[in-house]
Amino acid sequence: MQSMGSFTRRHFLQGTAAAAALSSLPGASLSSFAQQATAGQGFHAASVAPAAGSSADTLRGAGASRGILVGCAVRAELLRSNAPYAELVRRQAGLLVGESEFKFGPLRPTPTSFFFDDADTIAEFAHANGMQLRGHNFVWHRQLPVWFDAYMNRRTAEDVLVRHIEVVGGRYAGRMHSWDVVNEAIQISDGLPDGMRNSPWQKVLPGYIDIAFRTARRVDPKALLVYNDYAIEGEDEKSAAKREAVLALLRGMQARGVPLDAVGIQSHISAGPAHTYGPGLTKFMQDVQALGLKMLLTEMDVNDRELPPDVGARDAAVAEVYRSYLNTTLANPAVVALLTWGITDRFTWLNHEGNRKDTQPERCLPFDTDLQPKAAFTAELEALQKAPVR
Ligand code: XIL
Repeated sequence: MQSMGSFTRRHFLQGTAAAAALSSLPGASLSSFAQQATAGQGFHAASVAPAAGSSADTLRGAGASRGILVGCAVRAELLRSNAPYAELVRRQAGLLVGESEFKFGPLRPTPTSFFFDDADTIAEFAHANGMQLRGHNFVWHRQLPVWFDAYMNRRTAEDVLVRHIEVVGGRYAGRMHSWDVVNEAIQISDGLPDGMRNSPWQKVLPGYIDIAFRTARRVDPKALLVYNDYAIEGEDEKSAAKREAVLALLRGMQARGVPLDAVGIQSHISAGPAHTYGPGLTKFMQDVQALGLKMLLTEMDVNDRELPPDVGARDAAVAEVYRSYLNTTLANPAVVALLTWGITDRFTWLNHEGNRKDTQPERCLPFDTDLQPKAAFTAELEALQKAPVR
């Protein structure tokens, strides 16, 4: 927060009570382990400001009426610098997650220090606006710091991971709706037993999944602990095989008594005739539900890369995928949350993940580049409005 000017800060925080509560929050950035472990304590979800923007014609409001938390991934830098973006998020989202700010690399400039400014910006924005917050993530094979490979080995890795979760999880304990404890641990093509990804963590700490979940539970007993993964949504054979590997992982964790509450289905999906979402996913979700686990749709967007250039046709096709995918998935009452990965096409990671052949930007989110609602917004809203009440 210290990096924020007074103009943006005034617009950023809503409600004087919330602002007062936040002004007492210590702003640790690159201080010692000990300070970081205690910083932020005394800032609890119980003092959250009254919910705003919960009318039935918002995504957040429509979700709330069915018992579903609805929100999106945000970027701290945009919350600070772009008022119309912040206003859109404030109105539509009841649940936030950082697009990168809570990941290992961004939080860890060195093996012994932490950088919390950007993560705190998001946590404070959520708190000031009566929103819930998700942590994403403790363990992932991407966005690791430059020092990772040289520093991490079989002797150091467990201590680094446990301390990371203690400090980061401890800082936000009591304020997190849920944590993606482990992200994307399955990659069948890597050829390891059980479909495990041959990730940097796997190489130095083969038991990292159990260690991460057990530590997370100890540090933040209130947060839902989530295993999050992608490419498990489609009707194709590869997705079906990955679903089986994920289910086996979940069952194994439960058999070993590892604490686990929910599965995050990322939902980076695609429009176009080659992509269908249906019975395979429904069955997987029933299986997850039968294990006593909740589900979250954690990162939804609809890639339009394979569609012809006409914008109207693309928007209609993308909206149709939103409608049918959400009708399928929200029908399962164990789904407790839905987040899109961003909210406006102006800022979507997909534009940096291999462009469309015609180099047009993607139209994958509910709001367009001018922050106006698209057909995908209406589709998401209507799917929420008709979802069974939780
Ligand atoms: C992406 C961010 O959106 C990008 O800005 C970043 O460069 C890479 O990561 N699955 C995930 C997310 O779990 O963390 C990814 O986020 C998107 C895919």
